[in-house]
Amino acid sequence: MFSANKNKTPKNLTLTAREVDFDLQQEMETNRYWHSDDPVTTHFFNALQSTFPEGERFFIDSARDVQAKIGKENLPTELKEHIETFIRQEAYHGRHHESWTNALTSLGYGHMEAFSDELKTMRLWAKENIPAEYRLSMTTASEHFTASMAHFFIYRRPDLLRGAAKPFQQLLLYHALEELEHKAVCFDLYQQSKGGYSLRMLGLAVSSFDIMKHVSERHIYLLKKDGLWNFTNRIKALNLIWGKKGIARQLIPYVLAYTKPNFHPWDTDERSMLMASFGDVIDTMGYSSQV
Ligand SMILES: [Fe+2]
Ligand SMILES: [Fe+2]
Repeated sequence: MFSANKNKTPKNLTLTAREVDFDLQQEMETNRYWHSDDPVTTHFFNALQSTFPEGERFFIDSARDVQAKIGKENLPTELKEHIETFIRQEAYHGRHHESWTNALTSLGYGHMEAFSDELKTMRLWAKENIPAEYRLSMTTASEHFTASMAHFFIYRRPDLLRGAAKPFQQLLLYHALEELEHKAVCFDLYQQSKGGYSLRMLGLAVSSFDIMKHVSERHIYLLKKDGLWNFTNRIKALNLIWGKKGIARQLIPYVLAYTKPNFHPWDTDERSMLMASFGDVIDTMGYSSQV
């Protein structure tokens, strides 16, 4: 049953759910603008990551529900094992991102909790009302976004990782590493479900809109809360996201790649480049691991 794109999975692929500790709160208390001493970049990352805990639970729910629909017994062993580790990885990520959001709340950004509650309500509603394959199509698109961001940071804007204070840099790199390892898991599962190309494109459109909406409303809130949503910072934010080297603008080719009918996440493999470029940071994390 499991045949499509099987040959695209790298032979040396191992998925590992790592247990790591990060002291984000302490760093944030003494270094509020922990990215390059710049509120616009710092709050962009704060905003982006705060969408992850509920997002990651949404991904887990959709993968579990589709797997249950297809029947575990109908999936190949390797994919089943990868789904299991993917779920553990995303569950750990969710916890780290939640403690990041809690640190922001305790620093006075009280509305972050309401933003998370809003996403939780949407996730629970979707679980009840939207078929699992539809939700998985949004998950595969979101997983493509996280892997694309990792690719973008490694190859085009390493400064966006190097500029972060140590615990944030470590978390971003740990997350990038595991996102790259599991980038094809939901895609391969999606191919086993009833979902086809049109639904995959619908998932891409909905996820793109969702990410932009949620990140920008949080970004603006955080800057407003600091009294920094002024003309200069609006221009800086616009440039960070849509400028020539801007994050969203640079991600457009990755989005277009996803629209190819024969696209597969393992068309590219970023793992060795990540280790070559940032192994110095990744190796200092001292995680205990479970395969
Ligand atoms: Fe994640
Ligand atoms: Fe992921």
